[in-house]
Amino acid sequence: MLRPVILDTDAGVDDALSIILALRSPEISVRAITTVAGNVEVEKCTRNVALLLNLLQPRDRPTVARGAAKPLKRNLVTAPEVHGKDGLGNVASRRRIAPVKTKSAVAVMGELCDSLGQKLTIIALGPLTNLALLLKQKPRALRMLKKKPRALRKVGRIVSMGGAFHVPGNTGPVAEFNYYVDPDAAQLLMNSGLPITVIPLDVTEQVVLMRREVEYRAKRRASAVARFVLSATKQYMRYHKRTEGFYGGYLHDPIAVAAAVFPSLMEIKKLHVEVETEGKLTRGMTIAESHRSGAPRKPEVHVATKIDRERFLRFFHERLWK
Ligand code: RIB
Ligand code: CA
Repeated sequence: MLRPVILDTDAGVDDALSIILALRSPEISVRAITTVAGNVEVEKCTRNVALLLNLLQPRDRPTVARGAAKPLKRNLVTAPEVHGKDGLGNVASRRRIAPVKTKSAVAVMGELCDSLGQKLTIIALGPLTNLALLLKQKPRALRMLKKKPRALRKVGRIVSMGGAFHVPGNTGPVAEFNYYVDPDAAQLLMNSGLPITVIPLDVTEQVVLMRREVEYRAKRRASAVARFVLSATKQYMRYHKRTEGFYGGYLHDPIAVAAAVFPSLMEIKKLHVEVETEGKLTRGMTIAESHRSGAPRKPEVHVATKIDRERFLRFFHERLWK
């Protein structure tokens, strides 16, 4: 049986590349795509997912479920300067997409956790708000309190793109965007004891996709998806040119998908991770307690420390330009 996954996404540009990769990976079966506010508002995320599914026409169309419109406790912070006001480099705003009626993300996630249990992997590409809401969900009937473990506790694996440990943040000096937007959700998940693999900026910034390579490959492939990738990544890459000095883009979320499909692409460490939720200057900062600080505190999560760059890029290009 193909490994069933849920993609939880704040449907920005690198998320869009991830959705294409995931739907073109024969090793997994994308059962649902749940949306969460982050790069852009959740309505736009949900519309972007619908646009991508219309473009990709997958044989087994995943369920789309709208999720949290704001973080657990904070006001929403979005990133239109990175992903465009519509979240897809202003490609989506030029297309008419019918409003998307969906079930709630927490309901869909809970049902799939209950029905698939250990077989299920959740790949979280945005703030962890939906997962935190599911974890906190009170069972409907008090009598279930004792007997039935919370749905999310049945999941086999959670792969979360987020955090920055030994590199500067990308949202202020120390925080990565997903965990900055909802630090409370990230802290809850990191200390939940759930089987989480964190894919931080330390790893995702080891790979860069240059604009000239996208232009070359998109021209050679000349498909509707290739044209979409070329136009949707333009603003994202111009943002990196302005702020990072290279005309290209990081592939944060595609690396998280690759880690879920081929865990052997990553080197990992088991660490206890805390997320700063009180600090004014350090909101969303991830602190890992290494073994050097005495006996490791529990619970621990898997933190990716290194990626096999060549193998990842083969995976990425082979599927993106199919
Ligand atoms: O910090 C990078 C992460 O934040 C990526 O998932 C990007 O899409 C944004 O959600
Ligand atoms: Ca994302």
